[in-house]
Amino acid sequence: MSTQYFGKNGWTPERIKNLHGKTYLITGTNTGAGFEAARMLLSKGAEVVMLNRSEEKTLKAIDSLKESIGSHIKVSFIKLDLSSLSSVRRAAEEVIHKIPHIDALICNAAVAQIATRTLTADGFEMQLGVNYYAYFLLTQLLFDKIEQSKGRIVYVSSEGYKMGLKRIKFEDMNFNEGYAPNTAYAQSKLALMVFAYELQRRIKKAQKQVKVYVCHPGAAKTSLIRPNAPWLTRATWWILAHSPLVQSAEKGAYPEVMCATEENLKQEAFYGPTGFMQWSGPVGECKVEPFVFDETAAAKLWAISEEATHCKWTF
Ligand SMILES: NC(=O)c1ccc[n+]([C@@H]2O[C@H](COP(=O)([O-])OP(=O)(O)OC[C@H]3O[C@@H](n4cnc5c(N)ncnc54)[C@H](OP(=O)(O)O)[C@@H]3O)[C@@H](O)[C@H]2O)c1
Repeated sequence: MSTQYFGKNGWTPERIKNLHGKTYLITGTNTGAGFEAARMLLSKGAEVVMLNRSEEKTLKAIDSLKESIGSHIKVSFIKLDLSSLSSVRRAAEEVIHKIPHIDALICNAAVAQIATRTLTADGFEMQLGVNYYAYFLLTQLLFDKIEQSKGRIVYVSSEGYKMGLKRIKFEDMNFNEGYAPNTAYAQSKLALMVFAYELQRRIKKAQKQVKVYVCHPGAAKTSLIRPNAPWLTRATWWILAHSPLVQSAEKGAYPEVMCATEENLKQEAFYGPTGFMQWSGPVGECKVEPFVFDETAAAKLWAISEEATHCKWTF
């Protein structure tokens, strides 16, 4: 299906049908694009399971959603801190026991532009650990459940994947040397994409049914740039966020909601806004660099990730 299929305005939420009976799991829904995605899905009658790290922020988000949509909405919370593999394992176990059916797992939460190199509980560079390794493990743990549900997985990446080194720094993935916030963020989002397209190829080979989509929100007014980002990044982002180049958090959520709900989307693609710099504009299929489909890099990354996260895929 091409971008043109949606018309000159691209994909918009008016295309979402009634979602009663459908269940969506979304990471990072207390704010930003994840919160807006939850709002869109809930307002169409879906059930949303929020996979967030903060119970306090989640309860506030739920209150705000109930206020705007109604107290009847079907929303629940499972604690997940992506910076800890044991938290990922606990959350996955809870999902498997409590959630009978998964129509889509939306891997939305991320951290970006951390000024000082920081490590996760498992010793990974923070952006690589949260934005990639945690999703590699979460996907492996929930895959059978999603397969039984004939569901899909949506990975939220970034145009940032093509900045930085434009490759996985296999010789030093945790940036023991030469750490730079943007370079490490770029690697984490590239790793997520290389993994996602490899997962698509493996699913096809194994004749499984899970569909995998990759998207990005463009440039969206969210809280992604936090006080722990370099001051120059914060200042530049502040200026950009007050310009027409940056769109609302709600529009930033369109691509992930489209990938979670739209029928007959091509999988080997990158979805997001298609306007200037792919930062905003009609949502559809974006241009993507060929190195995200590098099968040699993907096989190497897969093997390293299995070892790093202590998990083993069976296909
Ligand atoms: N905004 C943009 O312009 C832009 C551009 C390109 C790509 N993206 C991507 O869009 C996605 C959504 O981000 P956003 O812009 O909406 O940013 P955001 O407003 O900062 O939302 C990020 C979400 O991730 C959660 N999160 C962070 N670390 C976590 C952890 N360790 N465990 C669990 N959850 C964690 C945050 O929870 P807390 O509030 O508890 O920290 C928050 O809910 C991300 O994948 C981001 O990389 C955004």
